[in-house]
Amino acid sequence: MTQDEMKKAAGWAALDYVTPDTIVGVGTGSTVNHFIDALGSVKDQIKGAVSSSEASTARLEQLGIRIFDLNEVSELAVYVDGADEIDGSMAMIKGGGAALTREKIVAAVADRFICIVDGTKTVEVMGHFPLPVEVIPMAREYVARELAKLGGQPVYREGVVTDNGNHILDVNGLKITEPKVLEAHINAIVGVVTNGLFAERGADVLLIGTPNGVVRKP
Ligand code: A5P
Repeated sequence: MTQDEMKKAAGWAALDYVTPDTIVGVGTGSTVNHFIDALGSVKDQIKGAVSSSEASTARLEQLGIRIFDLNEVSELAVYVDGADEIDGSMAMIKGGGAALTREKIVAAVADRFICIVDGTKTVEVMGHFPLPVEVIPMAREYVARELAKLGGQPVYREGVVTDNGNHILDVNGLKITEPKVLEAHINAIVGVVTNGLFAERGADVLLIGTPNGVVRKP
């Protein structure tokens, strides 16, 4: 089974958590693209979606799914998104696709976060995947120096501008044993918009695509 087939299995399994006549929170990335395709198959049974990126919006619209502005919506039953790494406490690193800030906002509104991954994304300690940090462009070098003080090696993701017009620093070399503490610490650096640690608001349900089927947690 290929990695993409595992992503597809997890993406389609997330359909079980979508209830009729609701607006669905939709993340970003190659795993979510499979979920969006799945959502397309039930598009007449849902009201529509709140999207976390221009890329997901385009794919949802192509399938005829109505997009709602988050400001028009007072509640979301579920938010479905992928992750770059997820640990045993359901804390995640996200932002490989540079959509972390909007993802964190939509996730904050949702009652339940359904995380969909392939079997390569589960880890004991996060940090092997570089931690993305979205920064206001003029603060980029200042924030990089502050991140280096935390023991990481930040690398500017050159050529990438987020949907919000900001830059991304990818922080290598972190061993993330206290994700909530690090999430708050990095967010407190002036010039940081947000960082890719989703620990304060972790996943509620994890669907892992494996060669033996989809493993569900808890
Ligand atoms: C997008 O910014 C990310 O948070 C994605 O959710 C994450 O990078 C997982 O992406 P894939 O599903 O493409 O692996």
